[in-house]
Amino acid sequence: MLLQELLGIDEEIYFVEESYLAQRTIERTLDYLNGIRKFAEEQRIQFLRVREGEHTLGILLFNPADETVPVDFWSVFTGALAEAHSKKDFEALADSLLVFNPPEKEIEISSENWRDAVNEYYSLMLVNRNLCPGCAVRPESYKNVFSENRVQRVAEIFDILQKKGFYHEGRLLEVCCGNGMSTLALYRLGLDPLAVEINKCVVCQGLEQGVLNPRRTVVMDATALSRYFEPGSFDTVMGFMLGLVYEFNKELWTNIIREAVLVANEGALILFTVSSKPEIEILARALLRAGVKGEIVDNTDSEGTYDQWLFVGRKQTK
Ligand SMILES: C[S@@+](CC[C@H](N)C(=O)[O-])C[C@H]1O[C@@H](n2cnc3c(N)ncnc32)[C@H](O)[C@@H]1O
Repeated sequence: MLLQELLGIDEEIYFVEESYLAQRTIERTLDYLNGIRKFAEEQRIQFLRVREGEHTLGILLFNPADETVPVDFWSVFTGALAEAHSKKDFEALADSLLVFNPPEKEIEISSENWRDAVNEYYSLMLVNRNLCPGCAVRPESYKNVFSENRVQRVAEIFDILQKKGFYHEGRLLEVCCGNGMSTLALYRLGLDPLAVEINKCVVCQGLEQGVLNPRRTVVMDATALSRYFEPGSFDTVMGFMLGLVYEFNKELWTNIIREAVLVANEGALILFTVSSKPEIEILARALLRAGVKGEIVDNTDSEGTYDQWLFVGRKQTK
């Protein structure tokens, strides 16, 4: 696990927050740390501190094996992914604890590496079925799920983009990644997207098959992207095979689009693909309203299924 590598420890690690999303509000983290502070002034506690420069990204508290948990483990507290005010509260609380209990080791880590390590932890928890007790879903075989033709079709879209002078760059977000079929094409092109998807079972499938990168995949509702990422966090935003998009359910998809554009940088490349012309027309109207200038591209083939219609454009500068 990246976390153990970065920290140079062999023991088990558990985050106190149950999910990646809970890392945004860190209610349990702040609650537990407040509790710990009460006895940290009198009792020696074994801590590690993870920092980036002067900022405390996380602290780890050592829990020796006892009769309830028969192995040594570390509890991880972090505020690095939290909203600004909670992040500030975390740092203040963690730093005050460390005054009475200086950490036995300080580890300097970039916030990007730390975020990847946190992502990976929750991905591994998911794929190891720790987040879904009683899961009865049986693993599928790779070839039952993934199609080379589809991966190739996504890759070919990049030739179209290039011919039209649309170059992707920088931090890439892929929304609605599913089990990673489209993400696989991005990886093969040498890209390193952060892939988000609401359905944890399909994410689990992509992780299980070694397709999705556990450090760069998050189970998340894309209609709430702006709760988790600051505006301007991405230089390119893509989503493949959104839909089915109809007049009666278009709000879901147009909300995803609005949120995706909100977290994109000004000038960011925006690409969405769908199966039919009416769907892309609905998305194109939403994109225009969200401040994206671009065009609909006819990419129809004889199969008529995947990525038949594209919208490609750029977020306009204000
Ligand atoms: C047709 S699949 C496309 C998957 C993948 N992009 C591909 O091309 O193979 C559409 C995906 O959108 C996901 N989705 C729907 N609503 C979502 C939401 N609010 N947030 C994130 N993903 C969502 C679905 O769960 C589904 O996996």
